[in-house]
Amino acid sequence: LAGLERLRDCGRHDGVASLAPVPQVSVVVPTRNEGANVVPLLDRLSAVLAGLGVEVVFVDDSDDETPARILEQGRRDDLDVRLVHRPEGERRGGLSGAVVAGLRTARAEWAVVMDGDLQHPPEVLPLLLQAADGTDVVVASRYSGDGSADGLAGAGRALVSGMSTRVASGMFPRRLQPVSDPMSGFFAVRRAAVDLDRLRPRGYKILLELVLRTPGLRISEVPFTFEARQAGESKASVREGLRFLWQLVLLRLAAVTVLAGGLKQVGGFLAVGLSGIVVNTLALTALTVAVPDLRYQVASAIATQVAIVWNFVLVDRFVFTGSERRSAQRFGRFWALNTVLIPLQVLVLTLLVDGAGLHYGPANVLMLGIVFVLRYVVSARWVFPA
Ligand code: GDD
Ligand code: MN
Repeated sequence: LAGLERLRDCGRHDGVASLAPVPQVSVVVPTRNEGANVVPLLDRLSAVLAGLGVEVVFVDDSDDETPARILEQGRRDDLDVRLVHRPEGERRGGLSGAVVAGLRTARAEWAVVMDGDLQHPPEVLPLLLQAADGTDVVVASRYSGDGSADGLAGAGRALVSGMSTRVASGMFPRRLQPVSDPMSGFFAVRRAAVDLDRLRPRGYKILLELVLRTPGLRISEVPFTFEARQAGESKASVREGLRFLWQLVLLRLAAVTVLAGGLKQVGGFLAVGLSGIVVNTLALTALTVAVPDLRYQVASAIATQVAIVWNFVLVDRFVFTGSERRSAQRFGRFWALNTVLIPLQVLVLTLLVDGAGLHYGPANVLMLGIVFVLRYVVSARWVFPA
């Protein structure tokens, strides 16, 4: 076993694994004491994905013979079977942590995450992959179309599952609107679409974590029937239930923090902009006093440049921090943006006054507001990108 482990354990020997060609699909399977299910799972996967280049990444937190069963399968020629075994003490994040580790190790563009106990029928995989076009995540759902949760052991479990789904959807109505089964542990994900570093994996609900911490995901669904467990037993527990509630609280807090952070940023940007107007006026006054012969157009142009530098220093230091771009490039872009905006401001003002017939006072305020939004968005996206 030790010899095989040296070859196949990709958790510690990625160099070996990466010599193989990039697979077309990665299947990520978290396992904890699923020794009896590994081989039937691989056989059914193989039957259904024949002809595709498939790697199956097991992320295993077992104390039983499961890793040995997986390593024996390393000799298969129909599937590339890989194992990340996490010894006791390194099993961070439980089931969710295992899935994140698997997504990091996976090499294909698309990864399918599924349980190792055959409650997630491998026969659904082709349907997930067919629905993948033009999306980032495809959820296998028990609650859409002709899907079903019949395989949930016991009425109590089914009730809890249905209730937690409703609680989560109620707490995040907009973000979870496209997902009828946010608790599903069965989904396909385009790996490049998610930033795994932003996730706080804990407990069972990895899909919820992924969807709620990744803005703008394009999501579709495929119905499936959650089957009865093949062998072994569920590791779900009251403790996992409590973890789930705590996860909901943290996710809700994170959403509020993002909103507050956004407001703080817009406010900071506005405050800097207003201070820039003051600086501009002061510079103009100082120049006309110091150099009485200077034409006012020249003085105004110089004052504008002073204000641009002032605004840049403050925005760069306090508002859009942490941009990856080099500072000379940030300044270049900031300057270009603000210079291009000068004639644009005149144009918008002219349109509002001559075109829309507004008085130039209110028109000026309206124009500044419009240009402010433009300035903010272009600054965030183009001048100081993360
Ligand atoms: N690596 C690792 N570490 N795997 C784990 C761990 C862990 O701590 N805990 C569980 N697993 C594995 C199991 O071995 C199995 O392959 C899969 O994760 C699901 O675990 P089960 O214990 O069978 O969970 P379940 O059937 O009660 O829950 C499933 O259905 C829920 C929907 O009702 C999971 O898919 C949940 O994610 C899903 O929400
Ligand atoms: Mn299960």
